[in-house]
Formats: sequence, C-alpha cells, structure tokens
Amino acid sequence: MAKLYVNPKLQKGHLNPELQGHFSEHLGRCIYEGLYVGENSNIPNTNGMRSDVIAALKEMQIPVLRWPGGCFADEYHWKDGIGPKETRKKMINTHWGGVVEDNSFGTHEFMELCRQLGCKNYINGNVGSGTVQEMSEWVEYMTFDGVSPMADLRAKNGHEESWKIDYFGVGNENWGCGGNMTPEHYGNLYRQFQTYVRNYKADAPIYKIACGANVADYFWTKGVLETTHKHAPAHLHGFMNGLSLHYYTHPGGWENKGSATEFDEEEYYKTLNKTLFMDTLIKNHGAIMDEFDPEKKIGMIVDEWGTWYDVEPGTNPGFLYQQNTMRDALVAGINLNIFNKHCDRVKMANIAQMVNVLQAVILTEGEKMILTPTYHVFNMYKYHQDAELLDSCIETEEIGMGEWKVPNLHESVSMGKDGKIHVTINNLSVTESYDIDAVFTETVIKSVEATILTNDMHAHNTFENPDAVHPEKFEGARIEGNSVKFTMPPCSVMHLALEV
Ligand code: AHR
Repeated sequence: MAKLYVNPKLQKGHLNPELQGHFSEHLGRCIYEGLYVGENSNIPNTNGMRSDVIAALKEMQIPVLRWPGGCFADEYHWKDGIGPKETRKKMINTHWGGVVEDNSFGTHEFMELCRQLGCKNYINGNVGSGTVQEMSEWVEYMTFDGVSPMADLRAKNGHEESWKIDYFGVGNENWGCGGNMTPEHYGNLYRQFQTYVRNYKADAPIYKIACGANVADYFWTKGVLETTHKHAPAHLHGFMNGLSLHYYTHPGGWENKGSATEFDEEEYYKTLNKTLFMDTLIKNHGAIMDEFDPEKKIGMIVDEWGTWYDVEPGTNPGFLYQQNTMRDALVAGINLNIFNKHCDRVKMANIAQMVNVLQAVILTEGEKMILTPTYHVFNMYKYHQDAELLDSCIETEEIGMGEWKVPNLHESVSMGKDGKIHVTINNLSVTESYDIDAVFTETVIKSVEATILTNDMHAHNTFENPDAVHPEKFEGARIEGNSVKFTMPPCSVMHLALEV
C-alpha cells in the first residue's frame, strides 16, 4: 500500500492557470485547417475559427495561447498579416515544409481566436530578422488608444478599439533558429528591444518574456541574466518579467526520435524517464535565476514542452504531425504535476502544440476532429487552475527497464477555487496496479469523486475510432476516516475531487 500524505493546512503557492497554457505556430496544419478554416469554409466556423475545435478548447478551459511561433516568430513580419486578405503578402514558410503562407491569419484573427476562446494572449515578437521599430509598431498597433499612425492603421483595418497584450516574448530560441546568437549578444538586444515594448495601458502592463535556454544550456541562462542585470537598476529585474525554457521529450534522441505509436516497454520508460528530467531542469535553471533574482520576481516560462517523435508515415516531414497515445497522457500528467510543484518559480507553461503538431490535444482531418489522450489529461487537470498548491508527498518505488528508471507514482495536490481538494496522480507502470492510501491531515472528508484515464500504453484515438481512449468515472475510491483508499490500474491518470 503506497501512502500519499497531504497536509491541507500547508498551502505552498498559487497555481497560475497559465501553467496549463498552449502554443500555436504557423506550422503544418496547426493554424490553417486546425484552428482557422476561413469564413467561406464548409466546416462550421465563426469568423473563420472552427466551431468544434473552439468548443473543445473552451471545455478544457484553455488559459493562454502563444503565437505566431516558434521559429516562425523570428521570420514573421506582422504587417504582412493585416489589411484586406486579397492584398496580404504571400511568403514561403521556410522553416516548416516550404509551403506558401498567405498571411490570411494575422493579428486581427489571432485576437479574434483568443476572444472566442476566452483566453489570454501571448504574442512572440521578432528579434532574429526584425527591427526594433517593427516590434515597437506592433505593440503600438495592438494596444495604443489615442491618435497615432499605428492606432489609425488598426482602425482603418476595422478595429477601432485597441486590444490588450497579456504576454509578449522578445524573440524565440535566439540561441538557434532565432539568430544563432551568443547569450551576451541576445542579452544586449533584449535590453534594447524590450525598451520599445511600451506599456500604453497603465492598468494592464505587458508581461515581457526574454528568450531563455534550450534544455540544459545553463551557460545561456547565466549569460543572458548577467547581461540584462549588468548596470541595471535592481528593481527592474533585468528588464524582464519572465525568462523562457524549452524542453522536448525525444525518446530516441534528435536524430532518431522514434514512432509515436510503435514502441516497446523500454522505450515507454525511456520516454517517461526523459520527461522527468523537466524537474531537474527547472531546479537547475531556477538555481541560476535565484542568484540574480532571489525573491523570484522573474517567472520561469516553459513555453515549449512535449513529446517530439518522427512524423506519421506519409506526412510532410516539415509539418510535425504525430499521433498521441496513453504514453503521451502520462507525459502530460507528469509535466503538469512538475509545473504545479514548482509554482514558486514557474508561472506559465505552453505545450507544443495545440492542434495537429507534436503533442497536440486535438487532431483534425477535414471536417473531423478527435481529442487525444493528452487532451483528456488537460481536461482532468483543469481544476488546478487558479488553485493553491498543497503540501504533499507520495511513497514510491523505482520501476522501469534497463537504465530507464522512473518512480511508479507521481502526483500533485491543490485546494481548488471550488473549495475542494484536487489530487492528480499517475501510475507510470505498464503492468502493475498499486493500492494507494491517501491521508489528509486533520481533515473531515465528506465525499470523493474520481475520474480515470487508463488503457494500454499504445492506445490512441483515430478518426475511425475516436473514442478508444476516454476518461471514465472511477467508482473505486473509499473514504476511511481522513483517508481515501483506491487501487490505480497500470498506465493510468486519475483525478480525485474531495469535498471537505
Ligand atoms: O515547436 C516546434 C519548434 O520547436 C519551434 O518552432 C521552435 O521554437 C522549437 O525548436
């Protein structure tokens, strides 16, 4: 019997809804087809946005959406994506499949998408091939209310009222596709560019995000922070509100990532083992951030994470389209638990990517749409949004195969806005079920409701069988005094909601 200890009296920090954020790039069929089909499509839509996809994302309570990239961001020139669609410039999407980008989805469409979703926006600006003026004018175009060339242009394009920018990224992966810069060079550019990301709305300052490291590139984190903090007034915290981190789980390494659906037990454990490295990364990058920002004013923004496999056979290699199995459900559950546990430093995380790309929550094919196992995990975890993390720990044993060891169980617990205690727990074993005794210190438990997602590690939804993997009500949780006892089947993700 594994014990889960929860102390509801000890709240450890606030869980920003943005810890369950998403990312959508002009890549493959994420924006075009996946989200935006245009007003004249036969696929039901509102102002061009697919109604089925919007409804599913709203159900999941999507808190924030990042756009337009990714690598695409540092090649994106926002003025190409405004004004009458027939006159918008066409360009080649050099990063992603060499297809024609007709710019029919631009700033107005993105803001309309976020309006329909009821989520915050996170816009990523162009440092790699853009100018300070271009970035500054984009911010002016979106947020300035008075008389100005960009505010006038926005009104001319049909949107008199300004928008609010919630999050703004100053460049993406500038150590790589965003300009191959050194940390010092980027750090100086960051200082310069962010100066012109003006806060035109005194009551809604823009949360500015500097480009952080890839995986374990601690040299980058240190170099950027040294540069941005040098001779800078202490209260400006290196001129940033957030610093990003990117970490993808490639089970077979960058060169041979492996199949999304065909893998053996060893590769399953390898994937989960590599996913757990997120915890180490957050601790290590966090320790460097602590040197410059001991009060943790700067948020760590994990704005790209998820599994990255070989593309589905027969699909465009530049489109990064992959299936999504129960293995991905576990990857999602583990990562979301890790972000919760590090909520003192991690303020936002964005899975890559929302629809039809990498570890997507939704896949589409023409007018059809399926929800992936990862979607169901997000939907089960949504009760953590805006909740307070509770002190918890679970007894685990080491399982796995060969060198790929993982703990058998993984959890996080919060006190929700609804006054209920929410437990999310994963059984990582492919073969074993575990009895769990969840003990809640000095708590009177009035009721418990549980939902479970469980299946074979390879199980996934297809357009022919869209509901093969779906969550079910779990009837096996029993209250005994101040504890809840239940058995978790292999390869499963569970959510328990306790009325106390
Ligand atoms: O998400 C796909 C790509 O991965 C992004 O464009 C880039 O930022 C990262 O390398």
